Amino acid sequence: MTVFTTKSEIQNYISALKNDIKTIGFVPTMGALHNGHMSLVKKAIQNNDKAIVSIFVNPTQFDNDKDLEKYPRTLDKDVSLLKVLNPNIIVYAPSVKDIYEDETKAKEFSFDGLEFEMEGEFRTGHFNGVGTIVKRLFEIITPNTAYFGEKDFQQLQIIRKLVTKYQIPVKIIGCKIHRESNGLAMSSRNERLKPEYREAAPFIYKILKLAKEKFGTKSATKVVEWVEKQFEKHKLLKLEYFSIADTETLKPVKRKSNKKNYRAFIAVYAGDIRLIDNIALN
Ligand code: PAF
Repeated sequence: MTVFTTKSEIQNYISALKNDIKTIGFVPTMGALHNGHMSLVKKAIQNNDKAIVSIFVNPTQFDNDKDLEKYPRTLDKDVSLLKVLNPNIIVYAPSVKDIYEDETKAKEFSFDGLEFEMEGEFRTGHFNGVGTIVKRLFEIITPNTAYFGEKDFQQLQIIRKLVTKYQIPVKIIGCKIHRESNGLAMSSRNERLKPEYREAAPFIYKILKLAKEKFGTKSATKVVEWVEKQFEKHKLLKLEYFSIADTETLKPVKRKSNKKNYRAFIAVYAGDIRLIDNIALN
């Protein structure tokens, strides 16, 4: 199992590799790997000659220093998990300096408005940080295909926009959300949940499923009001936003059209841990 920590090493390795192989499948991660990540890595292995996983907690996408500081960093464990899955996976685990050199700063992007909705509204600058790191990683790894989870559906749409706008020749594959048996969407943040919040958190998916059911017969406004009420009554979970949005524009639905696809998106605080989730509505 090879772990590279500098871009020059991995770039040398990749340019030599390209003489022998046709396709690289890439899974960018911030580590603390769980089964959701593993399913992306499995896809990268199955559908490519080589799978590369990056593990890098990207400082410029955090709008909160405490959150960045507390983000789990479990490199040895992550590498062991990947090794068990397949010892031929290549890991790129750079330092902040290797990626950002002398200026740990995000570039400014326009994602045609996608960046202002939901996560963009509540996490200032988040998508500039994501755009900066994903573009940088694509330049270093030069993958043919990259795999992203639908749990961060807004991020997935923004990365699709990034490759289109910058004509980056990487195919983006969105992969289904992996859930724990109680319905909680898998996330690296789940391991930081205190027991009472861990027990309460499956409520989020329960409400998403009920909201989906209600959306069949009720307007988006009515469903949003209903969801907000359910969280007002909840003792532990604090709703940050719930939005029913068009999957392409991510703008909230005003009037339903059967020509469009919709998703419900949610962000909830479970104590000081922020959890997000979403569900396809049609
Ligand atoms: O989804 C994540 O884990 C991160 O946002 C990503 C895409 C690895 C960029 O840091």
